[in-house]
Amino acid sequence: MNKQRKEFLDLIFYQIYPRSFYDSNGDGVGDIPGIIKKLDYLVDLGVNAVWLSPCYKSPNYDNGYDISDYRDIMEEFGTFAQWKEMLEGMRARGIKLIMDLVANHVSTQHPWFIEGRKSRDNPYHDYFYWADTPPNAWQSVFGGSAWEYNPPTGEYYLHSFAVQQADLNWTNPQVRKEMRDVVDFWVEQGVDGFRCDVLDFISKDFAEDKMLNGPYLHAYIKELFGREKTKRLFIVGECQAGADEIAELCGEDREELTCIFQFEHFNVGREGRFKARPYEIAQVRDILVKWQKLTAERDLLYTLFTDNHDQQRYITRLGSDEEYRYEVATMYATMFYLLKGVPFIYQGQEFGTTGSWYENIEDFDDVETRNYYRAMEGKMPKEKLIEEINFGSRDNARRPMAWTTGKNYGFSEGDSVWLPPYTRGKQINAERENRAEKSILKFYKQLLRFRRSSPAIRYGEFNDLTRGDDCFVYERRQEGERVLVVCNFDRAQTLELRRLIGEEKGYKLALSNYKKKEWKERETFAPYEILVLQKKG
Ligand code: GLC
Ligand code: CA
Repeated sequence: MNKQRKEFLDLIFYQIYPRSFYDSNGDGVGDIPGIIKKLDYLVDLGVNAVWLSPCYKSPNYDNGYDISDYRDIMEEFGTFAQWKEMLEGMRARGIKLIMDLVANHVSTQHPWFIEGRKSRDNPYHDYFYWADTPPNAWQSVFGGSAWEYNPPTGEYYLHSFAVQQADLNWTNPQVRKEMRDVVDFWVEQGVDGFRCDVLDFISKDFAEDKMLNGPYLHAYIKELFGREKTKRLFIVGECQAGADEIAELCGEDREELTCIFQFEHFNVGREGRFKARPYEIAQVRDILVKWQKLTAERDLLYTLFTDNHDQQRYITRLGSDEEYRYEVATMYATMFYLLKGVPFIYQGQEFGTTGSWYENIEDFDDVETRNYYRAMEGKMPKEKLIEEINFGSRDNARRPMAWTTGKNYGFSEGDSVWLPPYTRGKQINAERENRAEKSILKFYKQLLRFRRSSPAIRYGEFNDLTRGDDCFVYERRQEGERVLVVCNFDRAQTLELRRLIGEEKGYKLALSNYKKKEWKERETFAPYEILVLQKKG
């Protein structure tokens, strides 16, 4: 394994959604000084890298994913100097930083679009896609036509996402140069890499009627990242791709991406974003096994994650967030983060934050949720619609972080916050979790410590040892160390551990979420119980 791959496998990322992380000045909006105040919390948790969701200037139609200036910080979040101070604070603590790069579109308030929409012969006009009438039936990811009329030129512009997010025309070499300059600007500031927003959308295929994964995707990404000064960066793409395409994007000699986020395990238990369907946890297991094998065969780096700012909380959607909240949260953490790949933890996940419940659409902010509600209103019973948006809304992950039981759950000293709070913040917050006897937060710390201490977990091979349906059993091993990971699902059962590990002696219990002190050859597992055994030498 080369040195760089090893260094990447040593990383444990924490994703910060700045608007909802911590408000330092009481205006109800999370900010950069707030992040600085919480850096020691991140160290204590045991992560060593941060993915920061967009913190650039933006009118916030899609919370910063609509950028109006790539080189400056959103006023509500602070100043450029404070951003630099944050970076220094991270450096001092050995934390790497990757920034969110939104390359597919800009805010309609970005100067390029303000100019480009004025007239057909404006120099910025060709930075965007235009048509006299919509040339296809493309739908925006957030609902409705992807083409919007622009009166000054009498044309339509393309927006794959919100109306306020105009797609950049990547076929224009000038646009590609602008984006290279943006990348270089942040590299010069000292960032360690990028998370690339909807990167598969930058090349479209009008002839084949495809909004994404067009014929020039690889060429464009190479232009952006296949350069001397970008070689050592950690670049994770948000791309919908199968195994072959991932190999094309992330193969060692490709000069494109380090890895991508692979979303198949989010399809379990739902139809589209807002509709639930029956599921078994075994479906999640099978997807993980499949990808562990595929990435090993092709020597690719995998990403391990259950939550992000676009998803309902995993434990709420695919587990049980009431009676078994602790067990489910610790079971999923064990199941994912001891696999081979780079872990990503999303803010609040580390202490078992669940989804929220709100009765009124006014309590939601997310543009996707609001568009869906508007489109469906009157077409189904209101009760059902409310249930659906509570099930699927991205706001579930975006409620201000609950730090304490105090005012605004410790998120802000202000009188009002930008989004109605997390509805279970009184019971579920960082401070309470830190003191609880059954503490998800403490378990995460223990789990991450174990990961950091175990070469077999970070670099070793993966073998699926599962027998039967209601559990996931796997082994991680390399020269001198073996680790057995047993994750039981929702039914209690007895498992013959001796049969799984063979005659080998010397296995010691490394982790348990049921306070077991030792393990038995015939072990009885409670619902969502995990056991991790380790043998050295
Ligand atoms: C990505 C982001 C999401 C955003 C969208 C448009 O999917 O994760 O939050 O709304 O791109 O930029
Ligand atoms: Ca603030």
